Amino acid sequence: MAYRGLTIIFASFLLFLGHCGYSNGECADGGCNSTGLGSSELLTRQPAEDSCYNNSTSVALSCSEPGTLEGPSDNTCNDGTWEKGPTNCTVYCSPPTDVQNLELDPDLMRYEEGDEITFSCSTGYKLTPDSPKSAQCTNMGSLNSTRNPECIAFNCSAPSSMDDNLDWTDKGNETYKGDQTIQYSCAEGFKLEGSETNTCMDQDEWENEDPTCNSGNVVQVFWYFFLMTTFYSIFSFYM
Ligand SMILES: *[C@@H]1O[C@H](CO)[C@@H](O)[C@H](O)[C@H]1NC(C)=O
Ligand SMILES: *[C@@H]1O[C@H](CO)[C@@H](O)[C@H](O)[C@H]1NC(C)=O
Ligand SMILES: *[C@@H]1O[C@H](CO)[C@@H](O)[C@H](O)[C@H]1NC(C)=O
Ligand SMILES: *[C@@H]1O[C@H](CO)[C@@H](O)[C@H](O)[C@H]1NC(C)=O
Ligand SMILES: *[C@@H]1O[C@H](CO)[C@@H](O)[C@H](O)[C@H]1NC(C)=O
Ligand SMILES: *[C@@H]1O[C@H](CO)[C@@H](O)[C@H](O)[C@H]1NC(C)=O
Ligand SMILES: *[C@@H]1O[C@H](CO)[C@@H](O)[C@H](O)[C@H]1NC(C)=O
Repeated sequence: MAYRGLTIIFASFLLFLGHCGYSNGECADGGCNSTGLGSSELLTRQPAEDSCYNNSTSVALSCSEPGTLEGPSDNTCNDGTWEKGPTNCTVYCSPPTDVQNLELDPDLMRYEEGDEITFSCSTGYKLTPDSPKSAQCTNMGSLNSTRNPECIAFNCSAPSSMDDNLDWTDKGNETYKGDQTIQYSCAEGFKLEGSETNTCMDQDEWENEDPTCNSGNVVQVFWYFFLMTTFYSIFSFYM
């Protein structure tokens, strides 16, 4: 009697396992594991079995928003293996559009979930102070930055040096374009000390101090005396 009761319980248990489609954690003979269809949370399977599909079952696959279906849109369990590879539901984000002079790194038509974009501006332009410097593509299919970046032109005011002997590119201009490099030079007989070039940086200020123009007098006087004494020595030697 007890033996028969146990048999019934055991048989019911086997039936229960059979109904769920697996035994010992594996799918029944010829059945396929549902994970083989794809692992995205956005993937919808029809019919929607929990873990195993019976042999010879066909499944329709689709992606819910914002996923983009990549891979097969249906699959069939064929004697323990799926006929086709897994299906992805990839989430893409678009980069900011219609932003003048904006540069993206990396520069792509679309970004995948988790990708990070770094913003910068083209030559002579800089990001406004409240622009985001980067953004990440979220699982919602949108960038996580709250606003679009914006690029504005920047410039530097003319070098302030009062040194009359110092000249530079387009001396007399009141402003110079951002990222522009100018070249300095000194009047004849003067030696440039400091940097020969300067660049307008995006803090609206020049990278370097203005150079100075120094007369080479000390050196000239030294050479003058050196040559005079040499000539005088040679001259007096032959006299
Ligand atoms: C299905 O595959 C997953 C991952 O490979 C595994 O964790 C799970 O136990 C499998 N399920 C069955 C019923 O075989
Ligand atoms: C699965 O189905 C196919 C086609 O119906 C059949 O040939 C095969 O024997 C089945 N496999 C199992 C393990 O039942
Ligand atoms: C899978 O096969 C089992 C045993 O043949 C059956 O009881 C069950 O209804 C089948 N499941 C589906 C979804 O066809
Ligand atoms: C699905 O995603 C995986 C991992 O990103 C990738 O290796 C595979 O090529 C993708 N499959 C399809 C069909 O796009
Ligand atoms: C966007 O996500 C990145 C990475 O998680 C984070 O560092 C950044 O602060 C986020 N930006 C905003 C505006 O939430
Ligand atoms: C120079 O930059 C300032 C802002 O810093 C701007 O107001 C001005 O219009 C710019 N000038 C030129 C000539 O681009
Ligand atoms: C100086 O001004 C002239 C005339 O406006 C312009 O063509 C030139 O590009 C300017 N130079 C610089 C360095 O901004």
